[in-house]
Amino acid sequence: MNTDFIILAAGRGKRMTGSLPKVLLPIAGKPMAQHVLDTVAGIENSRPIIVIENQKSEVKKFLLTPKNTKWVTQRKQLGTGHAVKTALPELRTGSIAVVLYGDVPLVEVKTLKALIKMARKDSLVILTFNKEHSEGYGRIVRGSKNQVEAIVEEKDASKQQKKITEVNSGILAIQSAHLKKLLPKIKNKNAAKEYYLTDIVGLAKEEGMKINPLLLKESDEVLGANTPLELQDLERASQRIKANKLLLSGVNIADVNRIDSRGTLKVGRGSFIDVNNVFEGVVEIGKNVKIGPNCFVKDSTIGDGVNVKASTVIEDSQVGPGCTLGPFARLRGGTVMEGNSELGNFVEANRSTIGRDSKAKHLTYLGDATLGTKVNIGAGTITCNYDGEKKHKTKLEDEVFVGSNTSLVAPVTLGKKSSTGAGSVITKNVSPGDLAIGRSRQSNIKRKNKK
Ligand code: UD1
Ligand code: CA
Repeated sequence: MNTDFIILAAGRGKRMTGSLPKVLLPIAGKPMAQHVLDTVAGIENSRPIIVIENQKSEVKKFLLTPKNTKWVTQRKQLGTGHAVKTALPELRTGSIAVVLYGDVPLVEVKTLKALIKMARKDSLVILTFNKEHSEGYGRIVRGSKNQVEAIVEEKDASKQQKKITEVNSGILAIQSAHLKKLLPKIKNKNAAKEYYLTDIVGLAKEEGMKINPLLLKESDEVLGANTPLELQDLERASQRIKANKLLLSGVNIADVNRIDSRGTLKVGRGSFIDVNNVFEGVVEIGKNVKIGPNCFVKDSTIGDGVNVKASTVIEDSQVGPGCTLGPFARLRGGTVMEGNSELGNFVEANRSTIGRDSKAKHLTYLGDATLGTKVNIGAGTITCNYDGEKKHKTKLEDEVFVGSNTSLVAPVTLGKKSSTGAGSVITKNVSPGDLAIGRSRQSNIKRKNKK
């Protein structure tokens, strides 16, 4: 069965600050309306029909849409009912129509599937939820047999109706043929002088149709955002939804309200994520990984059993299984840490490969460096990889031991099992097994009047 999704995205968002159209404001790093589109893509035989203000709308420019998308223009924003009406010509014969709102971005595929299934019968299906502070939402008025009588908007609600906590998510499903019949009958006789989509409830009843409400137990997935404050709540809700899914899949999270994922985050079973971590782009974390507090991870993979200590930054890098990082380490530029290697406090690795079992535990910069296995880097070691014009490479073969505070002036290669004396400036290659010392000798000078 075909499903046509009418996505309302023409409203100006008067209650928001800023110049961006409301439905492009980001939630979890992605425009609100993009969330809706990505969800729709998860449903078979779906087609998005997006209602925008005009064909030059920024909304059209910024959204990634499937090929079969239809764009329709609502020149004047006369209300949600009017917006849906502009989309009617695009409905396929015999399809189910689902109305979605660009500012209600977190609705889930399973909920939409349930609505579609219910709408196959001769009924209008509306998605509702309970909200204690229900200001701004349409209230669901139920009759003596618990049947839905009407949806009353905030501006039109009586004092008594305002106390109702069951509210309208805005999302509804109905057979296209019924929608085409009912919508032209919507009038704008209300406080806002708008054509309310919600009036469809009364009209459907007049036609003798059944109104089937689907009342959600959890409200997070249907929260909308009309104001900057509501946008904040929505961001938290979206993070909570993602974190709860991770929890259910066997990941331990210190606090689901203090984790931020702005992209795709995969985490293996038995891993632990402490508070205030931010994940961006595509991040894959293996099993039994420990991520300490205050880390930032972007477009990277982290292997099984890795220990990432507090305040570590990992960007565009790969961390092999069993590695240890931080506190305060920084990886970037396609750095690869092979298994069981360790980069400790205040160590930065950029465009480098750290071989298996190699270690740099304190205060080091590794740029354009390739380390073999079991290399040991002393505190304060710096690769001098940039001569002001070009970047050069440093190669440290297996089991090299670099003394503390060594400057490795690239290009330079240290052969297998070679070492450097502390404080050396190494400008020439070192043969395997040799000890290189490049520093001035110490001289102790006797002084008469000092003990
Ligand atoms: C709407 C519902 C309300 C529901 C709430 C849920 C109506 C009359 N009210 O109110 O019952 O509880 O959503 O979040 O439907 N839009 C257009 N063209 C227009 C007007 C709006 O495309 O002429 C779009 C907006 O861009 C937005 C969506 O429709 O994405 C909803 O409009 P909005 O003004 O935010 O409706 P609410 O007041 O939130
Ligand atoms: Ca809204």
